[in-house]
Amino acid sequence: MDRLRDKVALITGGASGIGRAGCLAMAAEGARIVVADIAADRAEAVAADIREAGCEAIAVTCDVRDSASVQAMVAASLARFGRIDVLFHNAVSVPLVNKMDRRITELPEETWHAIVGLVLTGTFLTAKYVAQKMLEQRSGSIILTATIDALVGQSGLDAYTAAKGGVVSMTRSMAAGLSPEGVRVNAICPGFVRTPHQSDFLDDEQGRAAIESLHLMGVMEPEEIAAFAVFLASDEARRMTGGIHVADSGYTAFKANIDPDAVFKR
Ligand SMILES: NC(=O)c1ccc[n+]([C@@H]2O[C@H](COP(=O)([O-])OP(=O)(O)OC[C@H]3O[C@@H](n4cnc5c(N)ncnc54)[C@H](O)[C@@H]3O)[C@@H](O)[C@H]2O)c1
Repeated sequence: MDRLRDKVALITGGASGIGRAGCLAMAAEGARIVVADIAADRAEAVAADIREAGCEAIAVTCDVRDSASVQAMVAASLARFGRIDVLFHNAVSVPLVNKMDRRITELPEETWHAIVGLVLTGTFLTAKYVAQKMLEQRSGSIILTATIDALVGQSGLDAYTAAKGGVVSMTRSMAAGLSPEGVRVNAICPGFVRTPHQSDFLDDEQGRAAIESLHLMGVMEPEEIAAFAVFLASDEARRMTGGIHVADSGYTAFKANIDPDAVFKR
């Protein structure tokens, strides 16, 4: 209940999916929450839910692609709570990625710039302005949500995989630069998570079968990623930094879910 007591957690993409689950889980562990999202109404609804449960939360509207907007988000968080102990960075437009990304040869340049601008530059801007404050405090935990698509190939997602691959690399170099002064940086790489947009794939029988066949223990729920983020945010993880943590129901652990007796004719 108290693993994040006295901490302030800023969660981007906090109005939906993994970010929303992170807001609720960190609040339940005693953190004061900044729900940051481009969707003002949905962010306010999450903050209201947290307050109704007796915890502290504010909603801040922010576009992580825009430096002034990110700096205003940090300023609003500090104005209300005075410090930022945890950044859990999730902001992404799933429809942009799922509907617009392509194989490199068919990938329009404007789509490349849109996805890299949101995923990679958005991470740069958010982490930069939060980390400046954390360095001043000489403490903090930055948790970046990457993806297993940054670790294993996925055709048709060349902009997203490149941008998230950048997030993975930046996690390590940021840790190397910041952790000697007290700021930890880790990435979580989820497999398929049952978030509102991703649920569309599961409604289709063929899609669900294909996705389930890639996971050893079924698709993950947002709350399961949030639970790991709580650990990385907490002092229990005080020496964990620079880690690329796979949370994927076994997705990256195996080549194919085959019956070895049948394939090897044993
Ligand atoms: N769901 C999955 O299967 C899955 C798998 C691997 C990685 N991820 C990663 O997890 C993170 C969260 O994904 P999700 O599935 O929970 O998404 P989601 O769509 O449920 O939530 C993303 C939130 O980000 C907000 N957002 C979009 N553009 C923004 C911007 N410019 N500035 C601020 N906020 C913005 C949206 O309004 C939304 O509330 C993403 O980084 C995604 O790449 C998700």
